[in-house]
Amino acid sequence: MKKIPHKIYLTEDQMPTQWYNLRADMKELPDPMLNPQNFKPVTVEDLYPVFCTELAKQELDDSTRYIDIPEELQEFYKMFRPSPLIRAYNLEKALGTPAKIYYKFEGNNTSGSHKLNSAIAQAYYAKKQGLTSLTTETGAGQWGTALAEACSYYGIPLTVYMVKCSYEQKPFRKSIIRTFDGNIIPSPSNTTNAGKAILEMDPNNTGSLGCAISEAVEKAVTTDGCKYVLGSVLNQVLLHQSIIGLESKIAMEMIDEYPDIVIGCAGGGSNLGGLIAPFMQDKLTGKANPRIIAVEPASCPSLTRGRYAYDFCDTGKITPLARMYTLGSGFIPSANHAGGLRYHGMSPILSKLYHDDYMEAISAEQTKVFEAAVFFAKHETILPAPESSHAIRGAIDEALKCKETGEAKTILFGLTGTGYFDMTAYESYLNSSMKDYIPTDKDLEIGFSGLPKIPGIQE
Ligand SMILES: Cc1ncc(COP(=O)(O)O)c(C=O)c1O
Repeated sequence: MKKIPHKIYLTEDQMPTQWYNLRADMKELPDPMLNPQNFKPVTVEDLYPVFCTELAKQELDDSTRYIDIPEELQEFYKMFRPSPLIRAYNLEKALGTPAKIYYKFEGNNTSGSHKLNSAIAQAYYAKKQGLTSLTTETGAGQWGTALAEACSYYGIPLTVYMVKCSYEQKPFRKSIIRTFDGNIIPSPSNTTNAGKAILEMDPNNTGSLGCAISEAVEKAVTTDGCKYVLGSVLNQVLLHQSIIGLESKIAMEMIDEYPDIVIGCAGGGSNLGGLIAPFMQDKLTGKANPRIIAVEPASCPSLTRGRYAYDFCDTGKITPLARMYTLGSGFIPSANHAGGLRYHGMSPILSKLYHDDYMEAISAEQTKVFEAAVFFAKHETILPAPESSHAIRGAIDEALKCKETGEAKTILFGLTGTGYFDMTAYESYLNSSMKDYIPTDKDLEIGFSGLPKIPGIQE
């Protein structure tokens, strides 16, 4: 039998030329986003004040199965793609498992993550539209970095609102975003009404993604020629990230493999939605039935302990309402939570698939996640991002189950990025000062109590 190589790369000619829109194959679509003023489904025109025109169209396009990747973008992708599919031989050996473990490694670009896949697409459409600036939020910093790279490539000025506690924990994120000409502001800030209102209530607020989104959206709608872009959660972002799964599937076909289990970390759902896209298509169309598992932090457990409800996508309550698994837009994860994956909600597409039992979700405590990260680094030589390490935890646990049962399952997981900017968190794990925090039901009730009331839909 031919030995499967450690790394499987597509040639540039084999790279996908179209993104795949999972919604086109869903049996039931996610519930429509609602306009918070009149509770009617949002129209594409409602989205134009905030988003680029082409991206607003992609957001609401439930039916076009494949969307062409513009040629200029395909060329940009070739600077850092295809990303490798890697057989984790050494990890398998160290675990003593009969399972075959593969991971798709997205950390081979300066942003250190998959985020560049969507950042460059969003900057491209903004440039085509003639926009003169963009705003965004960033949590751990990878998205802000990716978008700064993309905006600098297209010469578009960018303002990044970065969650304050991450801004303070990761000073070098600031430097790299500034290297790419991004203007970075810790959130909550005094530069917007949303930020001021949050600071008035709580001057020591350490920030959240929901709050940074409010600030970035406000800045976009009050600045001429400026729009807002988001690095996760939205349908358009999952669409761009489908390149991860499409490449993985072609690479697996090249070695006659197909995953029994696909595992990804879940923050707002973009990498997971992208990785699983073509495998979920097989599941939805009855061609195959892989298990699909989302791994989220126990400290921010939107899928595993959240409510499936309409909620705002931001803390300032200015965005449209999306039906998703949510902890409430006022939920702020504990500041001792070290990695990203801090968002209160989850992609509406993934929420619907989870609600309809097409996928599973588990949560992991951060010390267990870092244990997996360190083990992985030692055996596979890549220092993983804390976010990605949730998927590693899930993959290791599934491989250990195979060890018990003797089954040689094929496991595919997404290694979304590297952790070089996360050394403060690694340090706290290594010196045993890292603590786990699991919110009580009572803690979560506070977030749920702020869920919006929508007459006839959510009373
Ligand atoms: C390396 C990495 N992986 C995963 C995520 C989670 O985001 P998403 O769920 O949108 O993929 C992030 C988000 O910041 C990230 O930086």
